[in-house]
Amino acid sequence: MTQDELKQAVAAAAFDYIQKYLDDDAVIGVGTGSTANLFIEELAKVKQKVNATVASSEETASRLKDHGIPVYDLNSVNEVTVYIDGADETNEYLQLIKGGGAALTREKIIAAVSKEFVCIADGSKWVDVLGDFPLPVEVIPMARSHVGRQIVKLGGDPVYREGVVTDNGNIILDVHNMSIVNPRELECQLNEVVGVVTNGLFARRPADILLLGKESGVETITAS
Ligand code: 5RP
Repeated sequence: MTQDELKQAVAAAAFDYIQKYLDDDAVIGVGTGSTANLFIEELAKVKQKVNATVASSEETASRLKDHGIPVYDLNSVNEVTVYIDGADETNEYLQLIKGGGAALTREKIIAAVSKEFVCIADGSKWVDVLGDFPLPVEVIPMARSHVGRQIVKLGGDPVYREGVVTDNGNIILDVHNMSIVNPRELECQLNEVVGVVTNGLFARRPADILLLGKESGVETITAS
C-alpha cells in the first residue's frame, strides 16, 4: 500500500470511530494536514449528522465550511468531545511531534480541551525515539534570534522555516538533530524560553488513542 492509501485507511477508521458521537451534541475537533483532510472528506459524507466542529487551522475551517459542515469558535463551545488529528511522529506512549503544517499552537489548544484525542497516522510516523522529524517551534517574530540561541544551548539546530507565517501571525523554527529522550522535560524547557508561543511536542497531553495504518490493517493503540 502507498502512504496515501494508509492515510486513507486511518481516516476511514477515524470516521468509524466517531459514529457513536454523531447523533448527540458532540463537538468534533478537526486537525490539520493531509491525513486530517482525508478525514474531512469522510465527515462530509454525513454532514447532516454533524452537530458542531472546531478547527485547528484556517485551512481546515475553510475546508469544513466548503462542505457545509458547521464550524464554531472554540470560545463558544463548552468542551470538545473528540479531536481527530494527524502527527509527524509518535512513540509508544502516544507522545507526538506535530506542526509539520505549522498549525501546532491551535492543535495543542484543541488537544488540551478535548475529552478524547484520537491520532491518525500512517505507519511511517511510528518511532522508538522522537526527533528524526525536525521539531517545530512557533515563535513571536521579534524573538527569533533569541529563541534560536536558547535552542542551541538546549542542543538543537534551529532552522527558520522560510516564507511561513502561522495563522497567529508568527514564525516557525524547526529544530534539527535532537534525539528527544525526555519529551515532557523538553516540552517544558522550550515553553519557558521567552518568545516561544508553543512547541510541537505533545507529551504532557499525548493522544489517548492512535489509529496506525499498516500493511496488515489499521491498528488501534492505547498508550503503553
Ligand atoms: C500540522 C500537523 C499534521 O498533523 C502533521 O504535520 C501530519 O501531517 P500529514 O497528515 O500531512 O502527514 O501537525 O501542523
